[in-house]
Amino acid sequence: MRHLMSPLDFTANELDRLFDLANDIERYPDKYAHACDGRILATCFYEPSTRTRLSFESAMTRLGGRVIGFSDAASSSASKGESVSDTIRIISCYADICAMRHPKEGAPMVAAEKSDIPVINAGDGGHQHPTQTLTDLLTIRSLKGSLGGFTIGLCGDLKFGRTVHSLINALVRYDDIRFVFISPEELRVPDYITEMLKANGIPYEEVIRLENVMPRLDLLYMTRVQKERFFNEEDYVRLKDFYILNSDKMALAKKDMLVLHPLPRVNEISVEVDSDPRAAYFRQAKYGVYVRMALILTLLEIQV
Ligand code: CP
Repeated sequence: MRHLMSPLDFTANELDRLFDLANDIERYPDKYAHACDGRILATCFYEPSTRTRLSFESAMTRLGGRVIGFSDAASSSASKGESVSDTIRIISCYADICAMRHPKEGAPMVAAEKSDIPVINAGDGGHQHPTQTLTDLLTIRSLKGSLGGFTIGLCGDLKFGRTVHSLINALVRYDDIRFVFISPEELRVPDYITEMLKANGIPYEEVIRLENVMPRLDLLYMTRVQKERFFNEEDYVRLKDFYILNSDKMALAKKDMLVLHPLPRVNEISVEVDSDPRAAYFRQAKYGVYVRMALILTLLEIQV
């Protein structure tokens, strides 16, 4: 039985197979419409979510399966003090696979250790968000044609943004990738990530001004400032609008640069950018359903 805690849990070859499957599901959805008949997905979300929870639910429903779960710790017995370990033992009696989001880093891993069913980390604190990374990689591969040979700018909250940490970890396995980290000083990417890049000889730079690097980027990954991870409101208010991507900044970019964003956005991408053909973030959300369908089939070992 396999779980998914980190994008690195799959080898590059396994990821290629997963993305091939996701692309096949996109092309021939009817072929997969009953692949999970009789199976149940539990979505255990101790933290708010729109995309991750609903795309998992959409994925299982499109595969013919059913979904149970909770979207708020307050409506589960966690509010009475039940541990994640006990909860997953119970969920194992009710479902065939579980997607779990939790504000505590490592909580899905604790669950996986006690689980009789595959557990998918759907985001743990500021740590990892592997299924967002699978979504990001599938989007890049599908729209750019490959997962190597580009300069990617990651902009915004690089300190608390778990999607950024997961994506960097996953991209280092591909050839000829250059990272440009664009953030205010207070929200720089953690040292353990830059240490890992140095140790692997992967080129990166850290800058503050987005305008200065726009012309060089093949991909721009925007992120929101993670309000829920700040210790004081004053710092959040000071930093929340540090970057706003608008049409003027897009005019500096390559004609084929793609803008990605895990969403939700707050102010960091102006709505005027949405109609730019290079804005790929809504298409990215759709790829999230296909890749989660492929992931459910893979972890349940269902062949179609
Ligand atoms: N991208 C993402 O994780 O969005 P949600 O928080 O809405 O799930």
